[in-house]
Amino acid sequence: EWTPDSFVETTIANLKEKLGDDKVVLGLSGGVDSSVAAVLLHHAIGKNLHCIFVDNGLLRKDEFQSVLDSYQHMGLNVKGVDAKQRFYDALSGLSDPEQKRKAIGRVFIEVFDDEANRIENVKWLGQGTIYPDIIESVSVKGPSATIKSHHNVGGLPDFMKLKVVEPLNTLFKDEVRKVGRSLKIDENILGRHPFPGPGLAIRILGEVTPEKVHILQEADAIYINNLKSSGLYDKVWQAGTIFLPVQSVGVMGDERTYENVVCLRAVESLDGMTADWCHLPYDVLAKISNEIINNVKGINRVVYDISSKPPATIEWE
Ligand code: XMP
Repeated sequence: EWTPDSFVETTIANLKEKLGDDKVVLGLSGGVDSSVAAVLLHHAIGKNLHCIFVDNGLLRKDEFQSVLDSYQHMGLNVKGVDAKQRFYDALSGLSDPEQKRKAIGRVFIEVFDDEANRIENVKWLGQGTIYPDIIESVSVKGPSATIKSHHNVGGLPDFMKLKVVEPLNTLFKDEVRKVGRSLKIDENILGRHPFPGPGLAIRILGEVTPEKVHILQEADAIYINNLKSSGLYDKVWQAGTIFLPVQSVGVMGDERTYENVVCLRAVESLDGMTADWCHLPYDVLAKISNEIINNVKGINRVVYDISSKPPATIEWE
């Protein structure tokens, strides 16, 4: 019978035998899968696991530092890499969603390759691939920023020529969470909503600029904090804020304003393939809207997305 504890025990033993004294490099994303994969590998090979966590400048407010801190508390050998400017430069002038995804994927691979090359004698690439990723290895919207392995292809970055170790590739998401609990990983990491690899770049419709990222991070933090404080965060599959490419007229004191609109999105889902919009209570929505408009400079209007998937998607891009 499968239990999280028995999975942890046999997986660590198998990893020890397979990897011996070899070094492994692994890219952490802050999400559940890469975190659980890293902790399993850490139990098996300790400091021979070299984790890389890239700040692409497209994460939620304060997310990079707080997630890096929790990784370090768990004892992981992790290097945080500030690559914000490289991502912003690559995104400059791009407004097509697929072009933005491609640029982010490309820069991620460049940054990861640079860092992996600094580790001497690394033999393996660790990945948090789970079973559904194998079935559906490329999302409908194109490859994610997660590294997917491709075998026997020339011209690859050096790290992609490494042997691949994927300790979670037989598990479904709920099993990964159970394994994570058995490993005593922080609920803060295990319980977090799914977040797309390209991050806030696909929640800013049109061209991404550091200014828009900043505005969206502030609005999003107010939204997520209110979901947490009202006990709704864990009832929602995924929530986020979208920066719309329109301006609208408002009034502030005696002044007429002409500023940006953000949209709140929250969905219920089992697997992300279909999703229903959440009927969040009006009083919670009212509080979030007031807080955003009163505190985030550049926003004078907040709307709520009442579309389900299909035919809408969860993300707007
Ligand atoms: P959609 O918008 O297709 O999203 O309904 C379904 C789920 O996939 C996530 N998503 C992505 N994740 N790279 C990712 O790593 C992407 O390019 C990407 N696009 C969407 C989305 O956040 C939701 O959880």
